[in-house]
Amino acid sequence: MARHRLRYIPKGAPTELDRRIMDMERKGAIVPTRDLIKTPEQIEGIRRAGIVNTGVLDTVEREIHAGMTTLQIDKICREYCGDHGAIPACLGYGGFPMSVCTSINEVVCHGIPKDKDVLREGDIINVDFTTILDGYFADASRMFIIGETTPAKEKLVRVTKECLEIGIKTARPWCDVNDIGRAIEPYAHQHGYGVVRDLTGHGVGLKFHEDPEVCHFAQRKRGMILVPGMVFTIEPMINMGTWKVFIDADDPYGWEVISGDLQPSAQWEHTFVMTEDGPEILTH
Ligand code: MF3
Ligand code: CO
Ligand code: CO
Repeated sequence: MARHRLRYIPKGAPTELDRRIMDMERKGAIVPTRDLIKTPEQIEGIRRAGIVNTGVLDTVEREIHAGMTTLQIDKICREYCGDHGAIPACLGYGGFPMSVCTSINEVVCHGIPKDKDVLREGDIINVDFTTILDGYFADASRMFIIGETTPAKEKLVRVTKECLEIGIKTARPWCDVNDIGRAIEPYAHQHGYGVVRDLTGHGVGLKFHEDPEVCHFAQRKRGMILVPGMVFTIEPMINMGTWKVFIDADDPYGWEVISGDLQPSAQWEHTFVMTEDGPEILTH
């Protein structure tokens, strides 16, 4: 008879939570490994990183304006982070050269701050920052509209935020992580938008990117169950046109992701801890 190695191994005598997970695994669910369920102490650490991360984005929100460069945004983020005893996770990550991602208009994500990139009236920009504080990671991003933009771009920014909110409402304890994308995709499609498939949300907390993968489109296959204590992001990237993306050939670092038809793209992101009552935002 085939023997199946179980993925979930409790630490010590199984608690009620452990038993529930092992029971679901026996019935065929994809369960997290034990290390993906954070201890209360770890959650507090990630929460503290989240508070600094929110301070970074609040500072950007106060200071962002037409005429400033994305390099200046990088400086604001780096300084705030340093002043609060924290480290920017992006800097040096996979060769990423700066402290924050600044993605303007058709840049979907991972835009690199530059001296030559000046914000202009009507631009939409995503600022994505990840803080490391005492070894704990918190990751969030917001959209900013520079001055006044077109109704179409304004709507893209609003609907993308609604996609994140739909993801939050859909993520319940013990649900399939792929339920999130199953709820987001039809809503984006109602508006004629494309949902980026090549980049996803992710577990976070002890590392920058952990399991599970959090898809924002409708995956057919089942995903991992979301157990209370798991920490993860939801971060839909929504394109005004095609869902397809490519890497900018002009980016010497190979990081910048551009929409396939060069139409605008938007993204909002938070870090959450799953609780018995649903996801709690750690990056408010
Ligand atoms: N913050 C991004 C995310 O949400 C990852 C950026 S990686 C970097 O997962 F290297 F580009 F900074
Ligand atoms: Co991010
Ligand atoms: Co993220």
